[in-house]
Amino acid sequence: MSAKNPRVAVVGATGAVGREMLEVLAQREFPASEVVPFASSRSAGTKVEFKGVELTVRELKEDSLAGFDLALFSAGGSTSEKFAPLAAQAGCVVVDNSSAWRMDPNCPLVVPEVNPQDLEWHKGIIANPNCSTIQMVVALKPLHDEARIKRIVVSTYQAVSGTGQKAINELEHQVSRLMNCQEVEPKVYPYQIAFNCLPQIDVFLDNGYTKEEMKMVNETRKILGDSTIRVTATAVRVPVFYGHSECVNIETEKKLTVQQTRQLLAAAPGVVVEDFPEKQIYPLAVAAAGQDDVFVGRIREDESIDNGLNLWIVADNIRKGAALNAVQIGEELLRRNLLRVPK
Ligand code: A2P
Repeated sequence: MSAKNPRVAVVGATGAVGREMLEVLAQREFPASEVVPFASSRSAGTKVEFKGVELTVRELKEDSLAGFDLALFSAGGSTSEKFAPLAAQAGCVVVDNSSAWRMDPNCPLVVPEVNPQDLEWHKGIIANPNCSTIQMVVALKPLHDEARIKRIVVSTYQAVSGTGQKAINELEHQVSRLMNCQEVEPKVYPYQIAFNCLPQIDVFLDNGYTKEEMKMVNETRKILGDSTIRVTATAVRVPVFYGHSECVNIETEKKLTVQQTRQLLAAAPGVVVEDFPEKQIYPLAVAAAGQDDVFVGRIREDESIDNGLNLWIVADNIRKGAALNAVQIGEELLRRNLLRVPK
């Protein structure tokens, strides 16, 4: 093994994000000497495709990740809690897509366009943020740098793929049954998701917010490195397969005009401005699906306050919101010569 051509494990390789991780590693020609897919015993022995070749999925066991340099995890929080520390102890750097390590003070929470410098203090486990948070901070970072954001009010319209492959299947199944006048029985979500909007993502907490909403509050502050930003979120699941949309209202210390905002965003890495109201051009989930960028439009001043803006932010939740961000972290670790677990 060599840090220049790392051995890479993809944990959860049979899932919606894991498959996309393989795809992104291939597309970006990540310089891996080898890529090995892992999942649970349920799918050990099945095949996944990587660069046109069928790879055999291995069962993830306690000692599986010894000998790997990098492991990209997307196999749920409990798998990460158990296996990420074992991997790090064995010298394999983990980029974890679950929420297990995100708020751990020993784990950087990184969006490469926003806070790549936080990789410098990693101790073996790096957390990939929540999908809705990633696309929001990519767009808000240049505005925060210029005008300091004091408050964020965000409402999300989140695709079912964020819940995983079983939710993609459930929406497909429900749509087809309902179109044939058959009843549906919700399994993944508490209610029917086809032709519906569910104002609940994840479980409710004591403060009445859902866990997903509080992830947006806490992760945004950690990534932007500013605990004073006030954030309030409402997260809604909508019957869209791929692509999260967000209506974001910000209040800034310094005034930003629409023109200035468009210029700042157009110059920001990973952001594409799509904002021609006169031509009815604005970001759309169906157009963002399969794309790497974060799309921003409907940029307008909030006329109810002195220094406020409204934005519509859309990105592919499986790519920038998960798989792509994880692979970009791997690339940044390589660039900074940080693909090793510090002693
Ligand atoms: P498996 O196919 O064996 O169940 P999704 O988020 O799309 O539902 O995917 C979850 C991914 O996490 C799948 O690849 C799943 O594998 C994997 N996974 C779930 N539990 C474990 C586990 N205990 N060890 C390894 N992989 C797991």
